[in-house]
Amino acid sequence: MSGPGPARRVTVRVPAKVNVQLAVGAARTDGFHDLANVFLAVALYDEITATPAASLQVTCAGPGADQVPLDRTNLAARAAELLAARYGITPDVHLHIDKDIPVAGGMAGGSADGAGALLACDALWSTGASRAELLEICAELGSDVPFSLVGGAALGTGRGEQLTSLALGAAFHWVFALADGGLSTPTVFREFDRLTPDAAPPQASPDLIDALRSGDVVALAAVLANDLQPAALSLRPSLADTLAAGAAAGALAGLVSGSGPTTAFLAKDAESAAEVAAALRGSGTCRSARVAVSSVAGATVLRPGPSQR
Ligand code: C5P
Repeated sequence: MSGPGPARRVTVRVPAKVNVQLAVGAARTDGFHDLANVFLAVALYDEITATPAASLQVTCAGPGADQVPLDRTNLAARAAELLAARYGITPDVHLHIDKDIPVAGGMAGGSADGAGALLACDALWSTGASRAELLEICAELGSDVPFSLVGGAALGTGRGEQLTSLALGAAFHWVFALADGGLSTPTVFREFDRLTPDAAPPQASPDLIDALRSGDVVALAAVLANDLQPAALSLRPSLADTLAAGAAAGALAGLVSGSGPTTAFLAKDAESAAEVAAALRGSGTCRSARVAVSSVAGATVLRPGPSQR
């Protein structure tokens, strides 16, 4: 096809995230918690394809697809509706999610689908929305959604949606141990409140930001921290066995990813990551294990919309 015209189909690829620091404060009056949340985007991806349709429809394929809601609670559907409402468009679009990010795993898979659908619909409809407008809609969709759009490495403050980009000195090699079933993020935060009645105001760790900037994997391993980990372990005690198996297999450090139940292990290099993943797969403490590198770009259009033709 040549020349401008409506795109028939736009596909966007969006990465998962790992939190290398997740500092959590006390519950706010709006129910959210103030965070100091250091995100890295990792090379595990969902792909969202937007195609014009008679009405708004969401489909999903891939591991765990049967656990993904296909109604208006899906962040991809919400993203299409919010963008359409803002530009006076009817959101007649079919959003297909090719899922590879663990579902309800603490790796921002739902947020990735929201950011991906937003970018795909924006390209499909040629709204001309600015990056700032897209980020505003992302923040409305959820606390982790702006990071899914931006990717790379960033500190999230407020409820996690106010982003500051961070410098990264090197690629890091991660292993993710996938657990059976998900953990509900609100439930994990409620457990945090129960376990931590006097939570201090969250602060980003200067040592962690230095380790990221210098690319020093040993220094980074020493300061990985997730305040939600005790809550996730309290709700899912078997995760302690997975963490122990990763440590025994030679990971430099391990932690629960976000609100879990995925656990993340930092490895010295790609070879060590492959060894840790193999050992975890054989340990009987997780469903499977994946390796992935950080950091990677955020939501990216793969199949061009009209503006790229
Ligand atoms: O923002 P998002 O919709 O992803 O948040 C899901 C849930 O996680 C919230 O309803 C809230 O229970 C909890 N949450 C929180 N504080 C944050 C982010 C999320 O308590 N900063």
